[in-house]
Amino acid sequence: MPKDLTHVDWPVSTARLTIRRATADDADAVLAYRTSPSVTEWMGIPPEDFRARFVAPERLDLLLVIERDGVFIGDLMVRIGDAWSPLRLTDQAEGVQAELGWGLRPEETGHGYATEAVEEVLRICFEDLGLRRVTAGCFADNVRSWRLMERLGMRREQHAVRDALHPSGEWRDGYGYALLAEEWAASRAGLGPPPA
Ligand SMILES: CC(C)(COP(=O)(O)OP(=O)(O)OC[C@H]1O[C@@H](n2cnc3c(N)ncnc32)[C@H](O)[C@@H]1OP(=O)(O)O)[C@@H](O)C(=O)NCCC(=O)NCCS
Repeated sequence: MPKDLTHVDWPVSTARLTIRRATADDADAVLAYRTSPSVTEWMGIPPEDFRARFVAPERLDLLLVIERDGVFIGDLMVRIGDAWSPLRLTDQAEGVQAELGWGLRPEETGHGYATEAVEEVLRICFEDLGLRRVTAGCFADNVRSWRLMERLGMRREQHAVRDALHPSGEWRDGYGYALLAEEWAASRAGLGPPPA
């Protein structure tokens, strides 16, 4: 049976932050920062039914909250899923990978908090959940987001041409990044390129 976020002993602490599962009570804090122009630029203006969508189990179950000194500073998504496989091998490909997403309150950017939180989530994915691959994507011109991935040692694997609809209404290029469990372990052991 593949592991999921219920198999982690939450909350998890890092040097400066606490990471915990999101609850319905976090909807307002998430909505508040998602309406900031520097966030809507990439994620779009939240829909009218944001709160209803937020508390739907298929969404809420994927979400983590980042806190500093007990105060909400951002959120993370961890979507665990299956890898492609031929039908005969599906049991080996179920729940082996995760896609991550992230956002910080604009006031909290520029301090390395996203780096610290996502690095811990990578550790959880590989070490606690035993996943084999973690991916994330962003618009090619979302420089802060792809620099975060590169700081964490993730590899740019894809430059997709005009594959995603930007909130401006333009089709824009996207970057896909990934990291494998063995790469994570090697960087932790000092054998590979460490996160910057
Ligand atoms: C993507 C996002 C989370 C990145 O935030 P960020 O502040 O750039 O990332 P971090 O919190 O890791 O901080 C890194 C910055 O702090 C600096 N920093 C300061 N102290 C640091 C530390 N101890 N460790 C690492 N970086 C540190 C870094 O130099 C870097 O600044 P720079 O980019 O000017 O060089 C943020 O821009 C955001 O929420 N954007 C809107 C939502 C969004 O686009 N989400 C992704 C959709 S795909």
